[in-house]
Amino acid sequence: TLTQAEKAAVITIWSKVATQADAIGAESLERLFSSYPQTKTYFPHFDLSQGSVQLRGHGSKVMNAIGEAVKHIDDIRGALAKLSELHAYILRVDPVNFKLLSHCILCSVAARYPTEFTPEVHAAWDKFLSSVSSVLTEKYR
Ligand code: HEM
Repeated sequence: TLTQAEKAAVITIWSKVATQADAIGAESLERLFSSYPQTKTYFPHFDLSQGSVQLRGHGSKVMNAIGEAVKHIDDIRGALAKLSELHAYILRVDPVNFKLLSHCILCSVAARYPTEFTPEVHAAWDKFLSSVSSVLTEKYR
């Protein structure tokens, strides 16, 4: 669980990220699909070329969900309950992929806010994304 200081750091960096959430979401997916092309197999029905409408739409949905988790930072599980069922029971995304996407989101945020992305913010944001991933993968067995 996150300490009070870590929660504060997440909320602060999110206030920046939120203003460019769609672009950061799309960039994170672009990074995911180019660095880890095996992840593209979950999206056979998408046009994954850079800047495609589907890529941007999906990036926006992912960042929206992350925003909900920030808003409910003391109840991430409750905030993402439905998404957790979707990823586990319907989409059946292998949990390793959550680490890859989290890494890509981390990079996109770091690249955009190099000054704000201090080691403390890095650690807090990483821990927060890990909590989000744990919630989204906890229904698996
Ligand atoms: C759908 C969030 C990780 C694959 C979604 C949706 C959201 C979301 C909000 C849309 C749900 C809806 O339309 O009701 C997240 C978050 C993640 C995450 C917050 C982690 C931080 C992943 C990973 C993969 C993945 C790692 C696979 C590499 C998918 C697929 C869909 C989906 C295939 C359905 C796309 C479609 O057909 O529209 N996700 N996701 N997700 N997600 Fe995730």
